[in-house]
Amino acid sequence: MLTRLYAARRATREITNSDTKLRGRYKITIQTYNAIDFDKGLLDRRIFSDADIYQEELEKVFGRAWLFIGHESLIPNPNDFFLTYMGEDPVILTRDAKGEVHAFLNMCRHRGNRIVRADDGNAKNFMCSYHGWTYSNEGKLVSVPGLQEAYYGELDVDNLGLVSVAHLETWAGFVFATWAEDAPTLEEYMGDFRWYMDMMFNRLDAGIEIIGPDKWIIPANWKNPADNFIGDSYHAVISHRSATIAQANRRGGKPPAISFERPGSNEVAPGNGHGMSAFVFDTKEDFLERNIFRQQGDPELQEYVDSRFPETERRLGTTRTWHTTPGHATLFPNFSWLTNRTLRLWLPRGPLQTEVWSFTALDKDAPEEIKRKMRIQCMQSFGPSGLLEQDDMDNWRNASDAGRSMQARKYLQHISMGVGHDQHHPKLPGLSSPNMFAELPQRAFYQRWEEIMNANSWADISVAPITATFEGTSTEE
Ligand code: FES
Ligand code: FE
Repeated sequence: MLTRLYAARRATREITNSDTKLRGRYKITIQTYNAIDFDKGLLDRRIFSDADIYQEELEKVFGRAWLFIGHESLIPNPNDFFLTYMGEDPVILTRDAKGEVHAFLNMCRHRGNRIVRADDGNAKNFMCSYHGWTYSNEGKLVSVPGLQEAYYGELDVDNLGLVSVAHLETWAGFVFATWAEDAPTLEEYMGDFRWYMDMMFNRLDAGIEIIGPDKWIIPANWKNPADNFIGDSYHAVISHRSATIAQANRRGGKPPAISFERPGSNEVAPGNGHGMSAFVFDTKEDFLERNIFRQQGDPELQEYVDSRFPETERRLGTTRTWHTTPGHATLFPNFSWLTNRTLRLWLPRGPLQTEVWSFTALDKDAPEEIKRKMRIQCMQSFGPSGLLEQDDMDNWRNASDAGRSMQARKYLQHISMGVGHDQHHPKLPGLSSPNMFAELPQRAFYQRWEEIMNANSWADISVAPITATFEGTSTEE
């Protein structure tokens, strides 16, 4: 079988009408990807391993998307900084003396040296270790050794500050940035997905704080873990079976029977490439009885979690407190989380390598003992020592590797689970599937990937309208 990706590339080399129109009367080659068949759920696996595609992703996906670059709790004080990444580009996240947050490319404007080497810290100025150019935490070039003697006072100091991101916005303490001048607002970019994100991160007046990150390298393409977190409930039943049994033994109970039906479960694709799972409960009593995310396995934690529901109801309304529960999720392209409070940044490090950054989210105003329990519970299941973490990586590596196998790449990957069964659930914004065992979010993720890869700018990229009703006081903030 000839796979579709390269067939599409050959076809577009024979330039015709609409392509040439984009650049006036000159005929130029525009490469168009045709890697995903949304209706059939088929995907060209070479997008996980091809070096040229990877380079194009860095520019078109990571150069355009709104990217999670940190949280305000990582830089709580004036003059704090945190070293982060946007794709492969190193970025300094700073809070200046006045409390304003900035993000700059970690590159000296002189010869390109990396200016900041520490993971985080507190500093008003950053001095380049090569020749001593020094920048303020607002990005201004404030000192140049030999400015008068060697440069004759003629250096354009005012225009040689640190390179800033095009836009920076915060939501619920999360800091996002984009390199694209023409990007939509963060609110538009999140779209209806924000309705779901609120349930995870915007439940409490005091908000959350995040700790970490733990960092490690995995030999897999960045899209594999992003796609696993966005919609792969399927693997959890099989890949994590041994962990499920071990956890049940520890609690002195029986592991649940293997089943591919979960009443009330859904996978959702609310637009713009984002996705997650969500449970729906008809009544508050049903929620209290069946909500597995409420079962903390620790009486003290259970009591704490239950005590916060009234506050959440005031902030997010009835539906998002008692009738829906969020699950695994990815905000396109590379920010993921699970309800056990593990947060992930999947940083691209080559077609077959990803640097994983793992954070833990804690309720900011929770008692210290509760925070400790939340942190330990999270780390026991995910992170370098987590019981479940080990199960995933080797599967992702092999799935990525198949893209460079001469024979394997001739066969399309299947993400067809649930095709033809999408719906609009009355309680859930966006498209959803009536079972969490469905690959709808993955199909939407790759459809978005392809749209961005085929676009010349944000003018060519659709932005889904916001249709959700945001009940509660949190929207007024
Ligand atoms: Fe930074 Fe020369 S490279 S001062
Ligand atoms: Fe997993």
